[in-house]
Amino acid sequence: MCGVIGYIGKGATPDFFFNGLKRLEYRGYDSAGIAMLTSEGIFIERAEGKLANLQNKLKNLPPKAMAGIGHTRWATHGKPTETNAHPHRSGNIVLLHNGIIENHTPLKKMLREKGYNFLSETDTEVAAHLLHFEFSSQNPAEDAHSRMKKAIHKMISQLKGAYAFGILCQEIPDRLYAVKLGSPLVLGIGEGENYIASGITALVEHTQKTIVLEDHEIAYLRADGIEIKNFQGEPVHHAFSKVEWSVAMMEKGGYRHFMLKEINEQPQAIAQTIAGRLNRDTGHVNLEDYGISKIDLKNIDRVQLIACGTSHYASLIGKYFIENVTRIPVEIDLASEYRYRPCTATQKTLTVAISQSGETADTLQAIKYARMSGANTLAIVNVPGSTIAHACHAESLIHAGPEIGVASTKVFSAQVMSLFLLGLAIAQERRSLSAEKQKEIADDLVKAPSLVESCLELSKSIEKLANSYHKYTSILYIGRGPQWGIALEGALKLKELSYIHAEAYAGGELKHGPIALIDENMPVVCLAPQDEYYEKMVSNIEEVRARGARTLTIGFADDQELRDLSDDFIPIPRAPTLLLPFLSAVPMHLFGYWVAVRKGTDVDQPRNLAKSVTVE
Ligand code: AGP
Repeated sequence: MCGVIGYIGKGATPDFFFNGLKRLEYRGYDSAGIAMLTSEGIFIERAEGKLANLQNKLKNLPPKAMAGIGHTRWATHGKPTETNAHPHRSGNIVLLHNGIIENHTPLKKMLREKGYNFLSETDTEVAAHLLHFEFSSQNPAEDAHSRMKKAIHKMISQLKGAYAFGILCQEIPDRLYAVKLGSPLVLGIGEGENYIASGITALVEHTQKTIVLEDHEIAYLRADGIEIKNFQGEPVHHAFSKVEWSVAMMEKGGYRHFMLKEINEQPQAIAQTIAGRLNRDTGHVNLEDYGISKIDLKNIDRVQLIACGTSHYASLIGKYFIENVTRIPVEIDLASEYRYRPCTATQKTLTVAISQSGETADTLQAIKYARMSGANTLAIVNVPGSTIAHACHAESLIHAGPEIGVASTKVFSAQVMSLFLLGLAIAQERRSLSAEKQKEIADDLVKAPSLVESCLELSKSIEKLANSYHKYTSILYIGRGPQWGIALEGALKLKELSYIHAEAYAGGELKHGPIALIDENMPVVCLAPQDEYYEKMVSNIEEVRARGARTLTIGFADDQELRDLSDDFIPIPRAPTLLLPFLSAVPMHLFGYWVAVRKGTDVDQPRNLAKSVTVE
């Protein structure tokens, strides 16, 4: 999951590429590089580590170029070093890559035998030399562009794996080439200039006209136009889409970190997910913009929710609600597991892919697998025009706006709300709820944004709490029912942000082993609002306290019994039971955030992670 940007047009400065990469840095940030093509040649600057390390090398690049490419790397092959950073060069060709070339070893051997020397440990350099070899093998009497087109086809016919390539060639200064299979690539249409990027966030300040390249497509960009063909050489036409995101939405807005901004955006993210879809007077749900009419909700007999990470935890919470209002079985599955088991989906299955980025490779492959087995497929995604959305029959956009912090927060809550709306829509089609009950649920759901807003005031007290917990090396989280999903989400946030080991268990599981972990060195975060599991959770809290655990509990502000059982207490407002996951998610996100700040880790770009995992 690297960040890719490319330009062809009137002229771009080194800062154009640098700023574009900054917008993509959340996709990968262990090394970076820029290549610029001018009449004097190809100039490349690369740096190990954060993008900032590349900034002081920009002065070595030409002040302006008609074409250029830039890359931020999340290492798959080869350590994050300057030598392994992209772009990679082979003769008069320079190339960058997002993805994995699975057969790089035999290709490297073949190319070595043809005299190519490899400077890096990357699979990408193999592609660069292979392309150079095929380009050099073409008939020199043909024009360079025709030779490059043939060389690209020869290269991709030998590659196995996933790739988004950006390619420049010194002999063809007026062209930028892009190739897509399995990794995201978006084209930007400008005035007298055109762009490629791995995400729309890098294009928003230059154009709102974008085209999402599909798998097996090659784009030939010039300053005055873009031609797209498929791998068979047939012309392809894509209408462009208008991106609604603004530059301001990409900025921190005065917050210390993107993550804190996005935690505070949860109320509007939830509100925007509801807007236009839930009729407050009747409780009626209209998911037409999901494209849901393409799916016969009346006749489905099973729902599958497939996702990874935080999105998987959102689907666990969605499961409880959807089963409750529809009485249809809801299976949740890790995408990385789903796709390797026999697929039991049928024409009567609704398989939903939940993904913030819409680019997660495991989720993409799993939903394609489900669709091949006949399932009705729906994407619940946040990024417009994403690959997973294109792979599904129907798409529901979570209107949470760009989420830049690697740790997902506002989109998690919006995903949960989106799944609740889906559940209501299925119930409505199947009449499994009375009109009164549906209206009552809708009345509750619309209260979520203001109740979440009130939970954001906990930030100061949780910041103080972080001082007492940041030194622990392991923390246990417990919850039951939907709060188990919140416990899993809370534990993940702590792990991925502060690098403290954390595990989450369904409270009922404690006595089946995990309670052996409990002593004064293992604090327990207990999610215990007064829902149907409350009494059992109170027993769990008493069990762990009896064994010396420090307890941090989340519960209703006026619950004195719970306060008396807690070493530390985070109060949330009384609210309808179905809203409780939204309310307890906020302190979990804030706790993960403030412990990480206290520990001094890189909150928006935690080590080893990337915002979009586009490799399997
Ligand atoms: C969430 O905080 C993590 N960054 C990660 O688990 C993430 O949810 C997961 O990689 C799935 O990403 P997606 O929603 O974009 O598919």
